[in-house]
Amino acid sequence: MQVYGLQEENWNESALSIVVVGASGDLAKKKIFPALFALYYQDMLPNHFRVFGYARSKMSDEEFRELIGGSLTCRLSDSKDCGRKMDDFLSRCFYQPGQYASDEDFGALAARMSEGEAGLAAADRLFYLSIPPNIFTAVAGAASRAASSQTGWTRMIVEKPFGKDSESFKQLSDELYQHLREDQIYRIDHYLGKELIENLTVLRFANLVFEPLWSRQYIRNVQVIFSENFGTEGRGGYFDQYGIVRDVIQNHLLQIMALFAMEQPASLDAEDIRNEKVKVLKSIQQVRLEDCVLGQYRSRTTKGTTLPGYLDDDTVPPNSITPTFAACAVFVNNARWDGVPFLLKAGKALHSRVAEIRVQFRHVPGNLYRNKLGVDLDKATNELVIRIQPNEGIYMKINNKVPGLGLRIDSTRLDLTYKAKYDTHLPDAYERLILDCINGDRRLFIRNDELEVAWEKFTPVLKEIEQRGVQPELYPYGSRGPVGAHYLAAKHGVRWG
Ligand code: NDP
Ligand code: BG6
Repeated sequence: MQVYGLQEENWNESALSIVVVGASGDLAKKKIFPALFALYYQDMLPNHFRVFGYARSKMSDEEFRELIGGSLTCRLSDSKDCGRKMDDFLSRCFYQPGQYASDEDFGALAARMSEGEAGLAAADRLFYLSIPPNIFTAVAGAASRAASSQTGWTRMIVEKPFGKDSESFKQLSDELYQHLREDQIYRIDHYLGKELIENLTVLRFANLVFEPLWSRQYIRNVQVIFSENFGTEGRGGYFDQYGIVRDVIQNHLLQIMALFAMEQPASLDAEDIRNEKVKVLKSIQQVRLEDCVLGQYRSRTTKGTTLPGYLDDDTVPPNSITPTFAACAVFVNNARWDGVPFLLKAGKALHSRVAEIRVQFRHVPGNLYRNKLGVDLDKATNELVIRIQPNEGIYMKINNKVPGLGLRIDSTRLDLTYKAKYDTHLPDAYERLILDCINGDRRLFIRNDELEVAWEKFTPVLKEIEQRGVQPELYPYGSRGPVGAHYLAAKHGVRWG
């Protein structure tokens, strides 16, 4: 079996400094430091690695260790040496306060990095920009001028949002290119690091049974669904400037759709995969307003408890019409997918937290059993479900004879639930992506032209929504979303799974 992502060559000869810029922030604490610790815990980091937090907040190394220490967990195993590993990890963590646009402050960081790099053949430097996008360029400039590696590679992971529309995307992209080459920029979409999304290409291209069915001939529709059972919760200030289409659909769901719909790449090389993604993204029709439904959650009182509406969030401007829910029907103009609706649906404060791909197949032509036994149409239709989270798994709804005398047909599942099948912990998306970046593996990062096309498809409809001031349909917190989503699905002959 080939193992990608583990690279142990030269691990003892080179130093690796990982700088988390914006180390005092939410993402750093919630995801990045726990992922780095998990990698260390699994012996996935080189021997000479050190982690540096960088932000404006003033903190000593000790205070920083205390800050991040609270977010590290030993979820990987019940091993007794976890506490020791955590202490070892924290002893390699340092904090450097500084301004984001200051060459001098990044120079001071570089001086501290150099201390741990002395005597080693090469020093590699990874900067994770976990900061608001309006300061990406300033940081890229100062860090690359004052803290680039002289003896190894320098890479930067850039968080989303990468622009708000085609114009702002292009501006940001041009600005970054003033400081970095494309091969140094790792644009992250953490959905690409999720286990089931990595598996999508394996499922399609390493199994004979799926690929022949993967077209308009057999597939009626594809649904890519993201739902969260909580609201913006403190991130309203950021969210209100973007809305759910930019926050989730234009990136996470569209990326999943591209991997789902692309042609087989020439190889597993990052450029071959990304070439295919760009090709299929280019074949997508412009998204039209009449194919979109927008919603916003409102408060709801249930059993004496009031769940706050979007507008009750203090960080959201009163009267905001920013959508917290959207469903869009998207079409691919190519021979494989002509006429097949891809329904991308995302919402906050819905009834459950789930992300999945649902592939609904056409009816069996001339179905013997449907005719004879009157099995209803839905039961006669196969459906493949790829559950991205939670309870990761893949299952196929099939028609099956109910065991026993007589002939009764039931819809049941061929079920691959990961928990039942694999006795292993699934890595967090950030673990996988940070490791890939360290290894220079770009397959799961987004190339500039992918984003350019993704913005081209959504910018006109986003502008139209904003110019017309389209009012979102209100839905109660904890519900299944606006009724309009059902009309949209019905218009395209789809029933939500
Ligand atoms: P935060 O708002 O927590 O910001 C991170 C740090 O940046 C802060 O601790 C602060 O550090 C500094 N900062 C914040 N606002 C400003 C400002 N206006 N000017 C200069 N510095 C500022 O962001 P998150 O940690 O939530 O997110 C970081 C990045 O990751 C963002 O691009 C976000 O969109 C993206 N992201 C976040 C997710 C999340 O769940 N949080 C999920 C997916 C993506 P200091 O004041 O100490 O300098
Ligand atoms: C982020 C969005 O990219 O993804 C958030 O900005 C969303 O709004 C988050 O909550 C969901 O990620 P996950 O991995 O928790 O499903």
